[in-house]
Amino acid sequence: MTKDKPSSRPSLAVFPGSFDPITNGHLDIVERGLHVFDRVRTAILINPEKKPLFSIDERVKLIRDTYADEPRVEIDTFSGLLVDYAEKVGATVIIRGIRAISDFEFEFQMALMNRRLNPAIETVFMMPAESYSYVSSRLVKEVFQLGGRVSDLVPPVVERRLCEVYGSPIPPDPASGSRGKP
Ligand SMILES: Nc1ncnc2c1ncn2[C@@H]1O[C@H](COP(=O)(O)OP(=O)(O)O)[C@@H](O)[C@H]1O
Ligand SMILES: [Mg+2]
Repeated sequence: MTKDKPSSRPSLAVFPGSFDPITNGHLDIVERGLHVFDRVRTAILINPEKKPLFSIDERVKLIRDTYADEPRVEIDTFSGLLVDYAEKVGATVIIRGIRAISDFEFEFQMALMNRRLNPAIETVFMMPAESYSYVSSRLVKEVFQLGGRVSDLVPPVVERRLCEVYGSPIPPDPASGSRGKP
């Protein structure tokens, strides 16, 4: 048996963001994206307005290292309109993650604006596992800076890089020699 019709499933989805740095919440969304689309392209917005912790090149490298064994995940940067970028690379879908209702209002506005700018590009919202619903790049940076553990919240390459940037967040405890899990 042969299928007459080629699949109309979009094969490339763009997942745009700051990824400063990429977290396990982002990874969760990428993984869900791979269940629906053939390829997911993480696209880092070059935004001169924001003051990031990691440079664009560093953020690209962290994502590249995280997905070294996954050819279906691509990494790129872009500036200007997201819909123009998506069209240029042949993507018909934009993926965004929705963690909570608080994300919704802004995301909804953006999705409708993007649709107005280019009706051929569809925005798809995906929800992470509940365990990542409170994770954000900003919170990860804050917690790490204050000495909290982030090992369950970011990929190992990111944790290593955070250690290099901030120094080790957990000083060795002279009494017990460690501050591992109880
Ligand atoms: N913990 C998470 N779970 C699900 N989606 C997330 C999580 N953290 C971020 N995202 C989503 O990833 C995308 C990129 O987020 P982010 O890197 O913060 O860039 P932006 O500056 O566009 O918000 C957004 O759609 C955001 O909602
Ligand atoms: Mg954000």
